[in-house]
Amino acid sequence: MTDQIEKLRIEFEKALSEVGSASDLEKVRVRFLGRQAGLLTEVLHGLKNLSLEERRTVGAGANRLKNEIEAKIAGAEKRFKEAPKVTIDLTLPGPEIRTGRLHPLTRVMREAVTFFERLGFQVREGPEIETEYYNFDALNTPADHPARDVHDTFYLAPGILLRSHTSPVQVRVMEKEKPPVRIITVGRCYRRDAQDASHSPVFHQLEGLMVEKGTRFTHLKGILTMFLENIFPFPLRTRFTPSFFPFTEPSAEVSISCPVCQGKGCSSCGHSGFLEILGCGMVHPNVLRNVGYDPKTITGFAFGMGVERIAMIRYGIPDIRLFYENDLRFLHQF
Ligand code: PHE
Repeated sequence: MTDQIEKLRIEFEKALSEVGSASDLEKVRVRFLGRQAGLLTEVLHGLKNLSLEERRTVGAGANRLKNEIEAKIAGAEKRFKEAPKVTIDLTLPGPEIRTGRLHPLTRVMREAVTFFERLGFQVREGPEIETEYYNFDALNTPADHPARDVHDTFYLAPGILLRSHTSPVQVRVMEKEKPPVRIITVGRCYRRDAQDASHSPVFHQLEGLMVEKGTRFTHLKGILTMFLENIFPFPLRTRFTPSFFPFTEPSAEVSISCPVCQGKGCSSCGHSGFLEILGCGMVHPNVLRNVGYDPKTITGFAFGMGVERIAMIRYGIPDIRLFYENDLRFLHQF
């Protein structure tokens, strides 16, 4: 009989632990203490059939268990009563869902790539660790050109450097592929510039190259004008002015009318009315020769621009350093 009481206690503890509501609790109470068929009630009723001695020990145990069960049920009941009612206010706004965004540089690069892909240009890539040959020699850059200086270019070892522009990709592609070539490339470039609002030692360039029979400067002018009108979300005029690059001849610098003053001249454009955007030109015959093309039968153009500069003008970003700080307050605006 004492065993049976112990079993009842274990059974009760288990039942109590599974109780989830006040009505569950009432069911447990009836199951153990119910006047008709409560499990413990039956034990208590059965006491009268026992010998006096048994009655004493079993009766004491059964009564102890009864008190214990009553106390525990009362305690649980109190907890259910005191538990705050959970109500859901459906009118409250939900928590903000933080979505990821494309980095403004990624957006500009992807848009630019898509634009040129529609014109039949294909994306190519080149290494960021370059040789002096691809970064300078093959691009017709004289041995004493200032860009080669250790003050301007990061050298990793003699003849090995971090590319200072994306133009070496032109050479790598032309060495491997036969004309017609229409390619663009985007990627990181490195220059030993001190960091300030408009300079960063690491930055991005977008470069294009088109080499096929009959390519003329007018093609370059038309395609770049279309591109600039497309990548900037405001009306603009373009201006091509003569310039110099060792790897193009003739060379030009392209500017757009200042979006702040529409070309009238203000402090953002140094009172010139124009912002310089990119460099370009017809591929120099020496460069074509260096990759085994015949400059007598084939011509091409190339252009290169800083992605940061495009993004800064497009979005009105005043400081290049904002691109690299990964401040979410900045990045969430795009
Ligand atoms: N590589 C040049 C620069 O970094 C840009 C350029 C590319 C100019 C292609 C002409 C043709 O400034």
